[in-house]
Amino acid sequence: MAERVAGRDDIPVGEMRSFEVGGREVAVANADGTFYAFEDECTHQFCRLSEGDIEGDRVICACHGSEFDLETGDAVNPPATEPVETYSISVEGDDLLVDLG
Ligand code: FES
Repeated sequence: MAERVAGRDDIPVGEMRSFEVGGREVAVANADGTFYAFEDECTHQFCRLSEGDIEGDRVICACHGSEFDLETGDAVNPPATEPVETYSISVEGDDLLVDLG
């Protein structure tokens, strides 16, 4: 079931926020106006991805530079090799809704 996490204007372009949804830490990123939701934990050594940076369609971990595809969660640059889980996110009116599936 989809859960409202924030207003669409609460996360400016190029920024991320972290939310607790259904007991999980979920990062929401605004990459050039497109929103992505994914597990807020790097699969390398568990740093919060929401404290990293967005570059194009990737999130870069602030700890050791691992990069993940925002759409698929795939690890596209080491040291991480395992993907992060991604979640469905939608915009309804002014609200951002995350669905853990
Ligand atoms: S914890 Fe993310 S790259 Fe090491």
